[in-house]
Amino acid sequence: MLKKILSFFCKPKPDSDLANKKERNNSMQTSTCQKECRIPERATLPKDLYLKLAEFISELPQKEGHLVTALHNAQHLFGYLPREVQEFVADQMEVSLAKVYGVVSFYTFFTQIPKGKYPISICMGTACFVVGADKVVESFKQQLGGVEVSEVTPDGKFSIDCLRCVGACALAPVVMVGEKVYGKVTPDQVKDIIADFS
Ligand code: FES
Repeated sequence: MLKKILSFFCKPKPDSDLANKKERNNSMQTSTCQKECRIPERATLPKDLYLKLAEFISELPQKEGHLVTALHNAQHLFGYLPREVQEFVADQMEVSLAKVYGVVSFYTFFTQIPKGKYPISICMGTACFVVGADKVVESFKQQLGGVEVSEVTPDGKFSIDCLRCVGACALAPVVMVGEKVYGKVTPDQVKDIIADFS
């Protein structure tokens, strides 16, 4: 009888180790899932790019003060910053969407519309404007089949954007195609510039 009573009180807690193990496994699954589940349900852009962005953000030394860095990486990955990407960045950086939108719309570097494979940026700062940057813009529009500023050609190859002074006024009018800079551009040279990327 005594043996029976002792065995009742000394019985180990049912599968306590196993239960702890299960809990640890579950929490690991949840954290992986949370990372994936945070991708907006209506996301139209590739999921793997969201995961890369989430990984980049998780490796930042701290979130505060690194919003521009995170957005820079997001634009590098997606090519532009539509609302769904801004929402994702806001969630991952633990800031409001309004704050993200404020930064995106403040810096001309950030764009909310898709760009072409070769984005053409024409400086419309004062020094460039007075020597005919507007005529260069018109020439690009014409050579690219009537595409407007802020639009992409149907084949997705080129897009046209106008910038404020890019700091190379001595070369006015200045045009950039991707990273390549063209100085003292005339409307007649536009055809050759496009041909460099064809
Ligand atoms: S105004 Fe165009 S580079 Fe300065």
